[in-house]
Amino acid sequence: MSCDLVLFGGTGDLVWRKLLPALFQAFRHGTLPADVRIIGIARDELSDEQYRDLIRQRFANVELAKRPTQEEFERFAATLHYLRMDLSQAASYQALAGWLNVRTADTVVMYVATAPSLFTVTCEQLAAHGLNAPHVRIVLEKPLGHDLASNRAINESVLRGFSERQVFRIDHYLGKPSVQNLFAMRFGNALFEPLWRREHIANIQITIAEELGVEKRGSFYDHTGALRDMVQNHALQMLCALAMEPPINSHADAIRDEKLKVLRSLKPWTPETLAQQVIRGQYAGGAIDGIAVPGYRQEAGVNPESTTETFVALRTEIANWRWAGVPFYIRTGKRLAERDAHIEVNFRPTPHAIFKTPAGSANKLVINLQPKDGLELHLLAVGSDNRRLQHQSLSTVQLDLDFDKRFGENRVGAYERLLLDVIDGRLNLFVRSDEQEEAWRWVEPIVDAWEADTAGPRPYASGSWGPSASSAMIARDGYCWSEET
Ligand code: BG6
Repeated sequence: MSCDLVLFGGTGDLVWRKLLPALFQAFRHGTLPADVRIIGIARDELSDEQYRDLIRQRFANVELAKRPTQEEFERFAATLHYLRMDLSQAASYQALAGWLNVRTADTVVMYVATAPSLFTVTCEQLAAHGLNAPHVRIVLEKPLGHDLASNRAINESVLRGFSERQVFRIDHYLGKPSVQNLFAMRFGNALFEPLWRREHIANIQITIAEELGVEKRGSFYDHTGALRDMVQNHALQMLCALAMEPPINSHADAIRDEKLKVLRSLKPWTPETLAQQVIRGQYAGGAIDGIAVPGYRQEAGVNPESTTETFVALRTEIANWRWAGVPFYIRTGKRLAERDAHIEVNFRPTPHAIFKTPAGSANKLVINLQPKDGLELHLLAVGSDNRRLQHQSLSTVQLDLDFDKRFGENRVGAYERLLLDVIDGRLNLFVRSDEQEEAWRWVEPIVDAWEADTAGPRPYASGSWGPSASSAMIARDGYCWSEET
């Protein structure tokens, strides 16, 4: 099979940090089509050789195990090409069409890893130059818009030139092995399904905590914030995977239909829930691993009076038969105590207690997403002192499954997996336009409420777990976050 992979934004961060390393891994694993051409597109004046050189230097920053040897790089570099384009100019697309039409590849992938402001013009121009035939696929990176209206405008313009089956909207969380395992756990095993409902589950908590700050993305992030950067996409996709009904098969639309139903069932916001059940925070200075770090407002590219949130915690419910009344909590932030993404499914306590159990020790299933990838099932058992059974105190124990240990740490990474899916035309792990719009529709009232609220985000110390209001919110339901147990 022949494949042309066009990377718009070819000298940008995403391409050299994520996409080319992922493509190299696929190349090394022998899963990239043998007849592949990778074409980097940017405004700089570069020859193929200069582009290869640039990429060679960038690979020095890739972790050692994933770095090519010289011989490997030379073989990989033979697939790399470069084309200068000004994405606002029609003539540039003419040149691209000419370049691609030298041969007719079986599949052409257009990966738009540019500033979002260029998405619309790029898609329109590709279509105008006939680069939208059925064998062409287009990949769009988030953020796809800033709100519902801009998201719709992008989707409409893309769908004027391409059909939905040609459009691959990336949410890289869906490509993570740990998130695949979440689907596998729910829909590949019969064990949990009977328990996976309001009768047995007291609450579900989704945490995506990052230790890093905004790094070099201050000016982008200051216009984005945690709600748009993480909640609208990654966290809601995770919530869908947890709450959706079993799809009728594993086809993309069967999965996406079920996810869409979850998004449509999210309880609408009211002024009361917006005020009490959504907490925003912004990191102040503090210490991470004993090293002092600056506050968000001191970061490069950030407005010193910024009110952009770097932390969000919220509570929601899903209004359907399976989940009515079960709180779902979502929490994400930068500069938190550790890098830790996990989901806690807290089961209800036994209906009648005959043993003494530690407070808050009901069964729970922890789905570890990163840095660990695995499952922990927390159970109660008789500890070492079992002499007086009548007055028995039980202790918590856990079944601990470590997928990294079991399957090896070198499993296919998120971008590698997703890029191969695009090449093969598999849409299962990509987001459909209606899902994306529904997610925007749900977050928009939060954005509006914040805009009208002059109080701004609550400061929290870097290295903490966010503002204390986040703990207070969950405590009102009688629960606590996992690190507080
Ligand atoms: C990206 C966000 O989508 O996800 C970043 O834009 C964030 O701000 C990143 O750091 C987190 O991804 P991961 O894979 O490191 O958890």
